[in-house]
Amino acid sequence: MPLVRLIYASKKTEDWNDSELESVIKSAQEHNHRHLVTGCLCFNRKYFMQCLEGSRSQVNLIYNRIIQDKRHKEVELMCYQYIDERDFGEWDMYYVPDSKITQELILKYSGVNDLDPYAMTNTGALRFLKEAVEQTSGIRT
Ligand SMILES: Cc1cc2nc3c(=O)[nH]c(=O)nc-3n(C[C@H](O)[C@H](O)[C@H](O)COP(=O)(O)O)c2cc1C
Repeated sequence: MPLVRLIYASKKTEDWNDSELESVIKSAQEHNHRHLVTGCLCFNRKYFMQCLEGSRSQVNLIYNRIIQDKRHKEVELMCYQYIDERDFGEWDMYYVPDSKITQELILKYSGVNDLDPYAMTNTGALRFLKEAVEQTSGIRT
């Protein structure tokens, strides 16, 4: 089964509660680990941006569940590509702490001040996520 990478953007809804963040990350990590899916998630209290990498069937299954989740809306597919290797292979789902994302990095990949994945291109989104993970985890992807 070939490897794919998927990146999407979404907005939180009234059903979302910030206190759920930790449990969403934990259950995503457990589920992804079981299905050999890796990736990262960014959330700035308004928008989500997530990258999923793994077998096409598992990434598609997880994405289908994610888009039905009522805690976010306007889920837009930003990137879907076949890949030879993973960029986030070290993490079941790395959470990028938004407080550590620098203004320079946001401005490097978008024309706005606040993190807004809808204001990024597909390739810019991937490069942004890679740099954000590197900067905040200290590990080069
Ligand atoms: C922003 C966001 C990101 C999510 N990421 C994942 C993920 O990476 N993997 C996963 O299994 N579930 C993830 N979920 C949870 C799924 O949407 C869903 O709630 C979970 O898979 C349970 O689905 P089920 O109730 O159909 O079993 C995420 C949810 C949200 C709101």
